[in-house]
Amino acid sequence: MRIEHDVPLRDFNTFGLPAMAATLVHIGSEADVRRVIDDAVLGRAPKFILGGGSNIVLTRDLPQVVLKVEVRGLRVVEMRDDAVIVEAGAGERWHDVVAWTIEQGLPGLENLALIPGTAGAAPVQNIGAYGMELADRFESLDAVDLVTGRTVTLDAPRCRFGYRDSLFKQALAGKSLITRVRLRLPRPWRPVLGYLDLQRRCEEAGFIEGRLPGARQIFDWVCEIRRAKLPDPAVIGNAGSFFKNPVVTPEQCRDIIARDPHLVHYPMDDGHFKLAAGWLIDACGWKGKSVGAAGVYEKQALVLVNRGGASGGEVVTLARAIQESVYGRFGIRLEPEPVIL
Ligand code: EPU
Repeated sequence: MRIEHDVPLRDFNTFGLPAMAATLVHIGSEADVRRVIDDAVLGRAPKFILGGGSNIVLTRDLPQVVLKVEVRGLRVVEMRDDAVIVEAGAGERWHDVVAWTIEQGLPGLENLALIPGTAGAAPVQNIGAYGMELADRFESLDAVDLVTGRTVTLDAPRCRFGYRDSLFKQALAGKSLITRVRLRLPRPWRPVLGYLDLQRRCEEAGFIEGRLPGARQIFDWVCEIRRAKLPDPAVIGNAGSFFKNPVVTPEQCRDIIARDPHLVHYPMDDGHFKLAAGWLIDACGWKGKSVGAAGVYEKQALVLVNRGGASGGEVVTLARAIQESVYGRFGIRLEPEPVIL
């Protein structure tokens, strides 16, 4: 267990925002978590769990003990008739997990390629993209209770997955540290091609009924689509989508369409409609706009970016201004996706 003091966090959050951690502990194993809990000083201190830092907005220095999760490991744990089970240490980069499974000839995660962050953070906000969510490929996880030091294994129902949501964003937020995640890759594999951008790729590449692309092809397409639409955090700081796509009633949806016929909306199984927050923000004229060094990405209005040297305060000020104008025009309150600290 390695402990550091007064650590700059700029390189530990994909937004590249400046903030300091008074104490940062590198967690390499479950035993490390228990050492922290048993420590006379660290044990009692409030804690903050840091994964890849791809879903946080730092607006201040962190007084809590920062537990930086670095548990490694990547292996196949079970080959069943109906699925292959793969286990990843929580500190593995999510994209490396996806790329590794594809290289091993184990399809199933290809739609979730190139999502920033760690494997351990993936269940926290139930990452999703291109017609797939983590919950669709989730088997179980191990997590250590930060008070008792006990390890529990939770299956999908107990994780209470929702849209960009789970028990770890609710009742267990900050209370339980995920150490390992197991993923279920269903057999036989079937491509997930419902998302419009992927359908287009299929048509362009001449794939038609009966002749379907392989997992490696879908992985490559997803990487290309993401690179074209979303900024690479290594080049321009960001935390992916800044707001969740709002869910509205059929009446609300009809109301908005009556005024704005081009509204991008998707019907949900329960009769509600999900609206494209990016479209709403774009319609309010925010694309390319800035507050200080915090800006709205030119190619995707749902993504806020750090144009260089932004503070967390500037990002939050920009986010509030966007929320107000979307509320003013559409009567919809956008909810931030990342955790604001
Ligand atoms: N749109 C605009 N203007 C914009 C942005 C989007 O008109 O500036 C329109 C697009 O033309 C499209 C629709 O809005 O018709 C939806 O856009 P897109 O397909 O890019 O997806 P999204 O709803 O903006 C969601 C996820 C992304 C995920 C993509 C692909 C959320 C909050 N975001 O974005 O997830 O990669 O779908 O599945 O659900 C993330 O969570 O960080 C993230 C990047």
